[in-house]
Amino acid sequence: MRDEKGKGLSNNETDGRPGAATGTRTSSSLTGADLHLTLGGNPVLRGVDIHVDAGRTTTVIGPSGSGKSTLLRVLNRLHEPDSGDVLIDGVSVLGEDPDRLRQRIGMVFQHFNLFPHMSVLDNIALGPRKLRGLSRDAARAVALEQLETVGLAARADTRPANLSGGQQQRVAIARALAMKPELMLFDEATSALDPELVKGVLALMTDLASGGMTMIVVTHEMGFARSVSDSVMFMDQGKLVESGSPEKIFDDAQTPRLRQFLSQVL
Ligand SMILES: Nc1ncnc2c1ncn2[C@@H]1O[C@H](COP(=O)(O)OP(=O)(O)O)[C@@H](O)[C@H]1O
Ligand SMILES: [Mg+2]
Repeated sequence: MRDEKGKGLSNNETDGRPGAATGTRTSSSLTGADLHLTLGGNPVLRGVDIHVDAGRTTTVIGPSGSGKSTLLRVLNRLHEPDSGDVLIDGVSVLGEDPDRLRQRIGMVFQHFNLFPHMSVLDNIALGPRKLRGLSRDAARAVALEQLETVGLAARADTRPANLSGGQQQRVAIARALAMKPELMLFDEATSALDPELVKGVLALMTDLASGGMTMIVVTHEMGFARSVSDSVMFMDQGKLVESGSPEKIFDDAQTPRLRQFLSQVL
């Protein structure tokens, strides 16, 4: 585990309990093996391999259109791959019920997609109630616990529109965590946020990583990729071009394509 992990949240709204971000949840490894997918005649994934060990964080970087979002969607089976396999703890999940699988894999998107007519607490309690079959009271208790984890317990009864974008994204993360996922996928979770709101969300993601959550994080935040992730994958044109430790990727890029990308984003 990298040095920067274990620092905990710098966000003073959060209660700071050790491991508060993950509770007693177990985390699992995730593997995508030789994934291929063509969409609308477009070969979007052209044999991608990705692996993240249990409790580790892999970031995926690469230019727009390189297939990063599609890769996450295939790992979560929002798209079925044309070929290849997706495995949790070494066991293929392509035969598993997709709804059940999505309870095991939490996903956070660029746009938070909270229900505007429901309170923050009810947004989070909905999944545990409908999908995990918890009673109304038990689901609300789980939701409140997760709101505490993301530092927003005091805002439980407000509507999402009364929160900043950063706070809404933290609610969306709490909503995913309330399903007690074994691992989490983040697709540009901070890209839609005003710059001053990015830090709080990244701090929460850092806390989750240090708490032992398995995470695959698609991001343009190179500081996060360098300091928080255990490994970095660079994708281009539907392929994994280069992967390795953050030091290797950022300080010792091997391919001209990665060097060019880094020169544009750093
Ligand atoms: N449903 C679709 N039909 C056709 N092409 C698609 C579809 N979804 C994505 N693509 C194409 O796949 C490529 C990769 O998209 P995406 O995974 O969103 O890339 P990224 O997240 O890296 O920006 C793009 O060229 C995009 O236009
Ligand atoms: Mg994308």
